[in-house]
Amino acid sequence: TQLAAGQQKGTAERFTRAGFILAAIGSSVGLGNMWKFPYITGQNGGAAFFLLFIICLIVVGLPILLAEMTIGRGGRANAATSLINLTGKKYWGWLGFLTVGTAFLIMSYYAVVAGWTLHYTLESFTGALFQEGADYSNKFKAFAGGYMPVFWQAVVMVLSGWVLARGVSGGIEKLNKILIPGFLIILLVLMVRSLTLPGAGKGVEFFLKPDFSLLTPESVLIALGHAFFSLSLGMGCMITYGSYVEKQQSLGAATLAVGFGDLVYAFIAGLVIFPTVFSYGLAPGEGVGLAFMALPAAFSQMPFGAFFGGLFFLLLSIAALTSAISIMEVPMAYAMDKWRWSRTKAAVVITALCFVIGVPSALSVGGVLSHIEITKDKTIFDFVEFVTSYIMMPLGGLLVTLFTGYAWKRAGEEAGLSGPWYKTWMFLLRVVAPILIILVFLYSVGLIKF
Ligand code: PFF
Repeated sequence: TQLAAGQQKGTAERFTRAGFILAAIGSSVGLGNMWKFPYITGQNGGAAFFLLFIICLIVVGLPILLAEMTIGRGGRANAATSLINLTGKKYWGWLGFLTVGTAFLIMSYYAVVAGWTLHYTLESFTGALFQEGADYSNKFKAFAGGYMPVFWQAVVMVLSGWVLARGVSGGIEKLNKILIPGFLIILLVLMVRSLTLPGAGKGVEFFLKPDFSLLTPESVLIALGHAFFSLSLGMGCMITYGSYVEKQQSLGAATLAVGFGDLVYAFIAGLVIFPTVFSYGLAPGEGVGLAFMALPAAFSQMPFGAFFGGLFFLLLSIAALTSAISIMEVPMAYAMDKWRWSRTKAAVVITALCFVIGVPSALSVGGVLSHIEITKDKTIFDFVEFVTSYIMMPLGGLLVTLFTGYAWKRAGEEAGLSGPWYKTWMFLLRVVAPILIILVFLYSVGLIKF
C-alpha cells in the first residue's frame, strides 16, 4: 500500500514559515561549513578559493536549491515519489531513489564525524583534552583509532532518531528554532575571541585577500562540489523538507535566505579559524585534521582555552546534529510514504540500520579496519565520502536540473517565478549547471585530467 502517484500526504506535517527557513539553514550549515570549508579553503590558497565558492554557490547552488524545494512542495512526498507525482512517470521514481540511497550513505559517515565532535566537546569542557606538552595529532589518532568513535556515533544516531520521531513541527522545527539562533551567538563570541588574538590580522588576510595564482582547475571542481554539499543538495534533502512547506510561502525568498545564511556561517567560521591558526603559528593547509589536531593546540595555549575550545566543539556538534536530522529525514520520509511505516518505526529502524552501515567507516580512520583499502589509498571512510560527495551527489544534482529544466513543465508556476527571473533560472538549470556538474563528475571518476 504505497503512496500512489498523484496521491498527496495529509497536512499534519508542516513547517511554519520561519520554521522552514531555520530548518533549511540548519541543514545547510553543518560540518561542511565548520570543518570542511576551512580546511579546503586552507589547502586551496584562502581568499581566492572563497570567492570561487561564492560564485559556485550563486550560479549553480541557488538554482538547484530552488528546484529541489519546488519539486518537494509540488510533489508533496518523499524525494522519489515527488518526481513520480509531478510527471506520472514511474522511472523518475527509480532515479529519485538514488538520492534516498545517497542520503543513507552520507549519514553513515557523517554521524562518525559528528560523534568525534561530541567527544571533543566533552573532553574540552572537562579539561581532559588539554594537558601540558600534549601532542594533539597523536591524541586524535589514538581516539579515532579506538572503539570510542562507535559509541559516539551511536549517541548521534539516538539523538537524531529521538528528534525525528517527534515529527516535523514538534521535532525538527523545534530543535532548529532553539539551536540555530544559539549557534549564531556562540559563533560571534568565538569570532571576537579569535579576532583579538595577537597576530590575528595575518589570518584575516589569508582568508580575505585573494591571490588568484594559487587557484588550479581542480580548485574549481572542489568549490563546486562543496557548494553542493554545503547547501545539502543532490540527495533529496531539500525535496523532502520542501514537501512540508505551505503553499503561501515564497520559495524564492527562502532560497535567498538559506543561501545567504549558509554563506554567512561559512564566512564567520573562517573568521574564527584562520586568525586562530595564524596567531598560533599553525598551518592552514593542514587538511582534515585542522579542527581536531591543529586547533586544540591553539586552545591549549589561550587563556580560558578549555572554555573556548569547548564552545568551538559544541558549535560543531550543534551544526552536525541539525544537518544529520535533515539527512535522515530523507530515507524516513521514503519509508513512511512507501511502506506506510509510522514515524516512530521509521526512526528506530532507519537509525539502527544506518548505524550498522556506518560502523566500518568509524573503524577505518586509524582503527582496526584502517588497513583495508577499497581503491588505492582510500580507506572505507574515504571511499564512502568520495563516492557520495563527488559521484552520487553530483548525479543527484544533475537529475534535479534535468527534471526541473526539461521534464516537469510547471516548475515556474510552483516556484512563483516568471519573466526574466524564470528565464535566468531555466538557463542555469538547463545549460550552465548540467555542464559544470558533468565536468565535476568526469574529473572525479578520472575521465578527464587537467
Ligand atoms: N550541508 C551539510 C553540511 O554542510 O555539513 C551536510 C549535508 C546535510 C549534506 C544534508 C547533505 C544533506 F542532505
